[in-house]
Amino acid sequence: MSKKLRIGAIASGGGTNLQAIIDRCADGSLQAEIVLVISNNPDAGALDRGKRAGIPTLCIDHRHYSDREDFDQQIVAALKTAGADTIVLAGFMRIVTDTILNAFPQRVLNIHPALLPAFPGLHVQRKALEYGARFAGCTVHFVDSGVDTGPIIAQAVVPVLDDDTEQTLSARILIEEHRLYPHAIQLLAEDRLKIDGRRVRIEPTASPLNTTLINPPLSDKE
Ligand code: GRF
Repeated sequence: MSKKLRIGAIASGGGTNLQAIIDRCADGSLQAEIVLVISNNPDAGALDRGKRAGIPTLCIDHRHYSDREDFDQQIVAALKTAGADTIVLAGFMRIVTDTILNAFPQRVLNIHPALLPAFPGLHVQRKALEYGARFAGCTVHFVDSGVDTGPIIAQAVVPVLDDDTEQTLSARILIEEHRLYPHAIQLLAEDRLKIDGRRVRIEPTASPLNTTLINPPLSDKE
């Protein structure tokens, strides 16, 4: 049985992932309602995107709090008041503490612009390029107390091209982020995600047709 999620979104930046989620809620392909957009950054484009969509927004500026714990307590209070049951981090550039994780157990999701467990942390598109990876991509995962370490829900893969720059690769990944995040959240809405240790099983199992990728590509004859 699927149920409409009540999403609290937390973002620090431009909010294009937030926008993708807003759009999928609006067209009905994501059974969810965003009940609050929070940003730690008063200038975040994400706040404007929330306002334009008629969603309540709130700036909780981390610089006004003496420690992380205090800051996270304010976030939890606002999310609870708004009646959020699912927390979506969309470009939130702060580490979340157990205060948030314990308030919403197994209900905090994040998107990361790399194929975890490769390249956690910051500047990961540049790191993938510098390393010489042939594929890059993005990962939606449950958040745990580590940095980009929680159980993986879904991943999308893009090729790394020889003439890529950090900008071109980031743009290619971002297009997939906008598709992957709403998709992963919808799986949660449908109650299809079962956490089993580090693994997240999708029930019923999705059939993985044609998901093998090779880069550079094989010739047509192979
Ligand atoms: C995305 O690349 C996301 O994966 C990362 O931060 C970026 C946020 O972009 N965590 P936006 O604010 O959603 O446009």
